Order: sequence, then structure tokens, then C-alpha cells
Amino acid sequence: MPDGSPPAPNLIPAVTDATPRVPSTIWAQDIAAVAKRHGVDVISLAGGITDPLPPHVVEAGAAALASDRRPHSRGDARLREAISEKLSRDNGISVDPESGIIVTNGAMQAVACTLQAYIEPGDQVVMLGPGFFVHHLISFYGGEPRVVLCREEDGYHVDVDRLRAAVTERTKVLLLINPGNPTGVVYTMEELQQIAELAESHDLLVISDEAYERFVYEGNVHVSIASLPGMARRTLTIHSFTKCYGLRAGRIGFAAGDSQLIAPVAKAFEWATLTGNPASQAMAWAALVGPQDWIEKGMRELVDNRDLIRRRLEESDLISTVVPQGATFYYLNFSRLGVGEDEFCNHLLARYGVPTVPGASFAGGEMQEGGYLRLPFGAGIDTIERAIGGVQAAAEDAISGDPISTRGF
Ligand SMILES: Cc1ncc(COP(=O)(O)O)c(C=O)c1O
Repeated sequence: MPDGSPPAPNLIPAVTDATPRVPSTIWAQDIAAVAKRHGVDVISLAGGITDPLPPHVVEAGAAALASDRRPHSRGDARLREAISEKLSRDNGISVDPESGIIVTNGAMQAVACTLQAYIEPGDQVVMLGPGFFVHHLISFYGGEPRVVLCREEDGYHVDVDRLRAAVTERTKVLLLINPGNPTGVVYTMEELQQIAELAESHDLLVISDEAYERFVYEGNVHVSIASLPGMARRTLTIHSFTKCYGLRAGRIGFAAGDSQLIAPVAKAFEWATLTGNPASQAMAWAALVGPQDWIEKGMRELVDNRDLIRRRLEESDLISTVVPQGATFYYLNFSRLGVGEDEFCNHLLARYGVPTVPGASFAGGEMQEGGYLRLPFGAGIDTIERAIGGVQAAAEDAISGDPISTRGF
């Protein structure tokens, strides 16, 4: 077909112009690329564990590429063994390494296959917001997302009565993101017990997305809801090596749970991709069973980044926030500036080269009063310094009436 001519009339895709795209991808890739083409020096805020991967991890990946071996479709057997041990040791979850784990191409694929395996048209999925934008994915599989927005004044912790009010007889799944992206909330044991009771009483499947489980700061403790009494039989737990071990080029995660519960997810995964990437699996194994000092160093750097942003935000009252208890993001409230989210984020990118994601992306279609954005704090400290400096300068621009840049990125 020559470029520019329309496709044949019968070739109408199920994915249409109305199908949403992943908001962070748009901002981090497309809009930032346009800004770069306009000569803006755009920083990259991707990160988490930022140092180069240690040799034992890289070498494991290289050896897997050279060996040309294809792992089991559920994942390399020794990696599943190591994951099962990790879950028992760190998370209080007992899963059969043979039949209770699927190693996926990132936590994202684990979330997608889990939803695909369980959502039938019309099923409702409740989740807490502001939250990672999986509500689009729920709709994509024919489900109906119901996002219950939590409040800044509550530290984005859950009001279980409001969550309960969102559950109907059509609700099949409760999707929990813990630690939270973008708010950094880490749910307490008491909250998790209340959520577990709700899931029990309404017979819900719980999908517990714990992609940021290692990123938990002072005094906060990450608890996997599957470890609570009675929850293992109704919970699928999802983790990310991409995030927790800095395997950004490896894109690897897993779903784990009761063997019967996870069996349909394994089918969805097999049909999507047959087998996960062997080099990534070898790297994940080496990262999991090898020395952990590089991760501990990365964690200390994250704490420094988080504290730097906190100190800088304390210098003025233009922007409020809840200091993250976990994960790698600040969720900033700039409602006092009186500017729109797209407008402010565009200005921040166009004038200061700082790519962020507007808060509306995390609200699941609910109305979130005011203006918010997500600022990642996982990059190197110099980049973080520039990012928060840009946010502050953009806030000053807005308040001083300096025309907010309207370059249409
Ligand atoms: C809550 C949450 N789950 C899953 C993912 C995807 O993880 P991965 O990069 O391992 O696919 C992300 C972010 O990208 C996330 O924020």
C-alpha cells in the first residue's frame, strides 16, 4: 500500500484512535522527543537503581545469549526456584516454583495477562487512585474500572468505607498497587487487613502489583497482602526486576500465586509470547541470588534524592506534596498556581527540559480537583537537582504571571 493512502475499508482494527496510549510513554518519549527537536535540552528522569549493572549480572545475561537455550514457558527453572525462596523469605508467601510462578516481560505484562485471564466484558475492577494507569488496560479487556481517589490530606492512604462503597455485585477484581505509583503510599498492616476483609466478604480476586516493593523508606514496612490469613488462595502477586533490580534493559517481572489461580494467566502469557527472554531471566537470577551491596547503595542514593526534593519543596509553599513512603515518585500538588496540568507540564518541559506526567493520567477518569504532576526521583542526584529546580522555577513563572509557554508539545 503506498504511503498515505487509506487502508481497505474492511480492515477496521479493534484498537482505534480512541484507544488511549500509555501516558508516561507519551510524555517520556514522544513529547520529549518533539521538545528535543525544538532544541530543548531534555533530561531523562528514568531510573531507580541507577548505577551500571554489576559484572555478575551482565555476564549472566551474556552467557545466556551465547548458550542459545530456551527456558520453560513459565520461566527458567532455577529462577523460579529463587523467586519462590525470595517470596517465602521476604514476603511470607508460599508458592510452588513449578506451577505457581510465571516470569514475564516486565511487571506490565504480568498485570496485562492477569487482567486478560480474569476479566470478562462487564466485570468491574476496583482500584485506588491516584494510581498507575491500568484502568485503561481494564477497559481494553472489556472490564469496567472503578477508581476510588484517595486524598492528599490522608497521605493518600485508603478510606476503606469509600472503597467498599465502590464494590457492586459485578465487581470481580480488586487491584492494589503497593507501594503506590505515583503517590508513594505504603499501606499499613491495618489497612491491608481491612482490604483483605473486603475482598473475602465480596469474594474478589486481588491483584497485588508490588512492582516497587523494595523501595520503602524509613519506618515504613511493605507487607504483601497475599501473606495475610486466607489471602493466598485469592491473590496474585506481581513483582518487577525492571524496577527493583534496575534491569531497565531487561524488562522482567513475574506473577506468583496459588497454582490453580495462576493457571489461566499462564495460558494468556503463553499465547502472547510463548517464552520470556532468556538473557533477562539469567540476569534476574544472578541479581536475586548474588551480592546485594549495589542495590543497597542504590537505595541510599534514592533516599538522598527524596530528601533533596523534600528540602527544596519546603523552601516555598507554592507546591504541596506527601513525602513518599515508598516507590520512586513525588506526586506534586500545584493547585495554588491556578494553571492547568497540561499547560504546566508543557511549560516545565519546554522551558526547563523536565519531563513529567500530568496528574489526570492517574485519576482513572475521576475528577481530581486542582493540578498535579508526577515527578520521578530515581535518576542521578545532579539530574534531580535540575528537575526540582525546574519545577520551582516554573512555579515562580506561573505565580509571577510570566506567560506560561504555549509551545504545543
Ligand atoms: C505500579 C506499576 N506496575 C508495573 C509497572 C511496569 O513494570 P515493568 O517495567 O517491570 O514492566 C509500573 C511501571 O512501569 C508500575 O508503576
